[in-house]
Amino acid sequence: MQKSAPPADATLEQQLLEAVQSDIESVRAAAEHLIAAGGKRARPRFAFLIGELLGVDPAVAAAVGAAAELVHTATLLHDDVLDGSDRRRGRPAVHATFGIRNAILTGDFLLARAIEHLTARGLFQATHELTRAVRELVEAELLQQELAWNAAITQAQARRVAEGKTGALFAWCARGLAVEGKLDAAGIASADALGRDVGFAFQIADDLLDIHAGGGDKPTRADLRAGHVTFPVRLACDRDAELEAAIRTAFASRREADFEAACAAVERSPAVALARTELEQARKRFSDAVRAAGASSELAGRMEGFFDAEISRQR
Ligand code: FPP
Ligand code: MG
Repeated sequence: MQKSAPPADATLEQQLLEAVQSDIESVRAAAEHLIAAGGKRARPRFAFLIGELLGVDPAVAAAVGAAAELVHTATLLHDDVLDGSDRRRGRPAVHATFGIRNAILTGDFLLARAIEHLTARGLFQATHELTRAVRELVEAELLQQELAWNAAITQAQARRVAEGKTGALFAWCARGLAVEGKLDAAGIASADALGRDVGFAFQIADDLLDIHAGGGDKPTRADLRAGHVTFPVRLACDRDAELEAAIRTAFASRREADFEAACAAVERSPAVALARTELEQARKRFSDAVRAAGASSELAGRMEGFFDAEISRQR
């Protein structure tokens, strides 16, 4: 691809809207519904920073970022069906507006569009890597289902779910750019690890938001009610057998009073403090990796700012 200036936000939005066009009206409307609702566009922003770090053509970084956003949107369409969540980004979820069949097929359409977006630009190696990331993502979602309503999952299992659900796609942004930038095997592995840490931290920050009852545009205290022991909760259970017992009771009875008691026990537990320590460690690894990759202090500062903004999100 030819060298070009980094596209502005407006160009990314334009690329995303172009990618969701179809002469099948129902799929276009359903895809636009969620894309037009906005979102943080964290993956495209991350891809730009990594592209700059690795010295990759900004047009390649833009393509990888747009593809990541399309895959991410596809997973949200499917995830809201699986979770029975009726709202997303302050709007009714796609399945609530257009129906479940439409939401699932539109998710498939967006996944296909992401692949098309990359292959149309000759990014075949990144596409090959994307298939592995999507496989990891789906496996993590399946593992989460397999482990549902089990209070005694291991820390390693909880970590694999968090890493796969969110780490895999961030890892791909960095890995895809590293392979297209012709880095050696060690450089590709470092890029993958760096992206994985960012995604893992991102998921943990999201899990923490679920712990405190509060009013953002997402329901809180929903994870335990869906049978999920997230990584922060698992960390706390390893310190506190009574917490695990409260969760086991709620999972067995599925009574509202028992969920309330388990959620209150999580809120009192060291889950948040333990997870924040994990986040600080991930932040340190990220910062060290960025500097080891030769970032200027200006770029390192912007990358650390990105990490901090993503993990310190408040409702
Ligand atoms: C959000 O988790 C879910 C994910 C990050 C991954 C979901 C993946 C799938 C459903 C597999 C489908 C894959 C493709 C490629 C179509 P969450 O429910 O914890 O977060 P939320 O609170 O934002 O819903
Ligand atoms: Mg969900």
